[in-house]
Amino acid sequence: MTRHAIYPSLEGKVVLVTGGAEGIGAATVELFARQGSRVLFMDISKTSAQRTIDRIVSLPIEAGAPPIIAPVFHYCDITDLPAIQATTSKILEEYGVINILVNNAAATGSGARRSTAQVTPESWDFSVNSNFRHVFFLTQAVVPAMKSAGGGSIVNLGSITWRIPDPVQPVYAACKAAIMGLTRVQSKEVGADNIRINSVMPGAIATRRQREEILTPEYRHTVMRNQSLQRDLEPEEVAKVIVFLGSDEASAVTGKHPEDYTFGSLYPSKCVDIPRCISFDARASGVRQLAWYRKITIAVEPRSDPSLGRDNGVAG
Ligand SMILES: NC(=O)c1ccc[n+]([C@@H]2O[C@H](COP(=O)([O-])OP(=O)(O)OC[C@H]3O[C@@H](n4cnc5c(N)ncnc54)[C@H](O)[C@@H]3O)[C@@H](O)[C@H]2O)c1
Repeated sequence: MTRHAIYPSLEGKVVLVTGGAEGIGAATVELFARQGSRVLFMDISKTSAQRTIDRIVSLPIEAGAPPIIAPVFHYCDITDLPAIQATTSKILEEYGVINILVNNAAATGSGARRSTAQVTPESWDFSVNSNFRHVFFLTQAVVPAMKSAGGGSIVNLGSITWRIPDPVQPVYAACKAAIMGLTRVQSKEVGADNIRINSVMPGAIATRRQREEILTPEYRHTVMRNQSLQRDLEPEEVAKVIVFLGSDEASAVTGKHPEDYTFGSLYPSKCVDIPRCISFDARASGVRQLAWYRKITIAVEPRSDPSLGRDNGVAG
């Protein structure tokens, strides 16, 4: 059995994970529970939620690890904003704060894979509400209590889909790209309150759903052609990074580029970060510039604020 790292700062912390019944979310619930955190999770799958709780409470305690507190399930559909707000308020009333929020839930699986031609106004709304809107509103709901508590950590689940790019799910991919923008902007917004916001950007992770619906032999072959590690990547391997980002071991990590947490190096070499280099150079010359490079359009605004990071100012 693998022994897990223990981060003392996580013991007793209140952690909320969305979509915690299955996949990466369930692995995250388990790893925070192993830290002695008080873990709450939202999901729509009651059966999977109960199965996850049963599994976690029966785990043997590893040497040196704190006792496991049974995770608490809240039935909550993250596409339903009033339900999100009511559930969060209830949790805050009971615990006073959510120290760590993991915005993990999303509509994954084959049903989410619609080409541009197949997208309808209804499927658009469903995708955006399942994959993006809740990330914003949950963060909005937890930040005031985090501020009062002197800080906190938020981890948003992105995806490599838009970065590869994978042509089969444009709306999902756009939502995941938007999560990167949100992470960067909100981390600036709340940094002074000692709240850190980061994002992880998984490649192909072999959850049960992915194994059953997506990871066909052909798709796995494509993944292995581009991935450095020549094996399936497990949900727990993403959860380990989420737990690290939640802990004080990552106390100075915030607003990190999601690609820094890409898993398994699922990166075609043509995806090197050229746009950012161009924006830096162009900004230094102080002119507005429209650059074309390998069919990528980059509009660079002149910046006078020297406090801005070197890679701000890129659009497109
Ligand atoms: N598995 C991968 O290969 C992969 C790759 C890139 C990014 N991701 C991202 O990682 C995160 C987790 O993905 P996963 O593969 O573990 O997913 P999963 O499908 O295995 O699990 C998703 C969980 O979210 C829950 N959920 C779905 N819709 C919900 C809703 N409306 N309200 C509440 N709960 C809901 C599901 O019941 C399930 O428990 C997602 O944000 C996903 O986009 C996963």
